[in-house]
Amino acid sequence: MSVLINGKELAQKIRLGLKEEVEVLTKQGINPKLAVIMVGSDKASEVYVRNKSKACNEIGIAFEEFLLDENIKMEDLLSLIKGLNARDDINGILLQSPIPKHLDIRQAFNAIDYKKDVDGFHPVNVGKLAIGEEGFVSCTPAGVMKMLEEYNINVEGKRAVVIGRSNIVGKPLSQLLLNANATVTICHSRTQNIKEITKQADILVAALGKPKFVTADMVKEGAVVIDVGINRNEEGKLVGDVDFENVEKLASYITPVPGGVGPMTVAMLMANVVKSAKLK
Ligand code: GUN
Repeated sequence: MSVLINGKELAQKIRLGLKEEVEVLTKQGINPKLAVIMVGSDKASEVYVRNKSKACNEIGIAFEEFLLDENIKMEDLLSLIKGLNARDDINGILLQSPIPKHLDIRQAFNAIDYKKDVDGFHPVNVGKLAIGEEGFVSCTPAGVMKMLEEYNINVEGKRAVVIGRSNIVGKPLSQLLLNANATVTICHSRTQNIKEITKQADILVAALGKPKFVTADMVKEGAVVIDVGINRNEEGKLVGDVDFENVEKLASYITPVPGGVGPMTVAMLMANVVKSAKLK
């Protein structure tokens, strides 16, 4: 049996701490504010944005939403971003992905002022992470590191295996684990004999988006298993990338889905907005 890493509880604790911090900042005349841009209507994005808005409300961060027509032109999206970059009252800008296919999301992310890039997607922040400089770190990977820290799971010298190489999770998380002195291996869709690699992991992270991909035979006894997956099964239930029922029998620590990494992402976003306001 493993220890359950309770992301929901930890995220709540972080949000309470941020609320107190924002109260102090407000008294000093600093009012953190997040701008969120959503293009078109995507059901999942609507839920994510609602959660972000609720979290801002609870903490005392101002929130401004920009809902753009799905047929908007790239130049109009860029001009909105430029306007928000120039606005003194806004500390964080988040472009909710996905956006319609006719738009270039990379160009849009790159247009966001890196000092307001609370998602940590701008090349300057990605580069800062790579060389170990302070910047904005992508929220989900930052949340995973926070979980490990809060549960006193030391990663130094440990073998960490990350399954998934996305720009949002797999790559930045591998970088963070490396910066924390873990020995890091990244597995992906072309990796051969994946089981031989995952079996060696002291810390195993699943971030590939396939329900029950990580089965018990892929996990070393006593490993720490972090499940970043958010998938819907046939019954519409939220499930992770790990076969939780069987893997939890041999892991030392494991994150559930829901209530694991998910709530940490929003908490770290809020932390990034507060950090941006303080830096300014
Ligand atoms: N879509 C799903 N997750 C995220 C996220 O963390 N940031 C942005 N901008 N879009 C997302």
